[in-house]
Amino acid sequence: MVDYEYNYYEFSKRCSLYKKDMIFPLFVDENDKFQELNVMPGFFKIPYNSIIHFLEKIVENGIHSVILFGIPKLRNNQATTATSTNGIVQKTLRLIKSNFGNKITTITDVCICQYNNTGHCGLLEKAKKIVDNDLTIELLSKIALSHAISGVDVVAPSSMMDGQVQRIKKKLDTNGFNKVKILSFSAKQCSSLYKPFRSETFFNKSVSEIDKSTYQVSYYNPRQILREIEMDIHEGSNMVMIKPAMASLDLIYRIKSIYQLPLVVQVVSGEYSMIKAAAANGLFDETWYILNLISELKRAGADKIISYSSLNISKYLL
Ligand code: PBG
Ligand code: ZN
Repeated sequence: MVDYEYNYYEFSKRCSLYKKDMIFPLFVDENDKFQELNVMPGFFKIPYNSIIHFLEKIVENGIHSVILFGIPKLRNNQATTATSTNGIVQKTLRLIKSNFGNKITTITDVCICQYNNTGHCGLLEKAKKIVDNDLTIELLSKIALSHAISGVDVVAPSSMMDGQVQRIKKKLDTNGFNKVKILSFSAKQCSSLYKPFRSETFFNKSVSEIDKSTYQVSYYNPRQILREIEMDIHEGSNMVMIKPAMASLDLIYRIKSIYQLPLVVQVVSGEYSMIKAAAANGLFDETWYILNLISELKRAGADKIISYSSLNISKYLL
């Protein structure tokens, strides 16, 4: 019997790791099927009509924060379903608020890559095939506003466009939503580990070969990473995020010792998949490793952790 199974009460306290530290990523599918992702065994896309039931399970397990990613039925060049009142995320937010009230803190991913045809996090300029930053941040601010109108607590812009936080904040404030918080994916490093997330099973369209290096931050440039964080704080972000998680302990530590804001860390799809693959080969105990990892992320300075394993490990935490 391993450590965490023996006495979880002691374990949770010793590692200062609690259920309230965990955020669950909820992928809401507009298509009505409960689907396990072949690239991420044990993780499911949740159909809209099963959301209440699924969230009851989440709440029973003591998890009270979810980050919502929408998987729309339709994608088009202008990503129009991303702002629609009856869009999948907007509908889900209203459903959560009316069924769970303040029992669940809702965070929404604000991006367009699952709503457009290219899979890029921005709209492309017509002539050149590069992202049009200004056009994109205007659209992102409209998405954030539509989420605010539907009752979101925290918006989380994930596209890494310059000026996205400032534009979103202004849009929210001028429309009377200054209580809505902003959690910026400030330092999303351009990483090999997003591949499962970009696969066909996730978004019904494979965009795995896409190059996002013109807007995501380089993992090998620590000064630029710190500048991204600083800019987002300056633009009014209430919380910042860094990802991927496992090899970013130095950044987590540095960011936490410089800035006072809450720091969120995401264990991304590729990290989940490699842990699963190793455990499936009998190389180590999956739960034990995930508990090690999450506790190490907290030790380095993470305040909250987004993990595809949040629900599975919750029973070992206080
Ligand atoms: C894009 C986005 C990505 C993730 C969340 N939103 C990465 C990307 O496509 O570059 C990563 C999530 C994961 O891999 O778990 N807006
Ligand atoms: Zn995106």
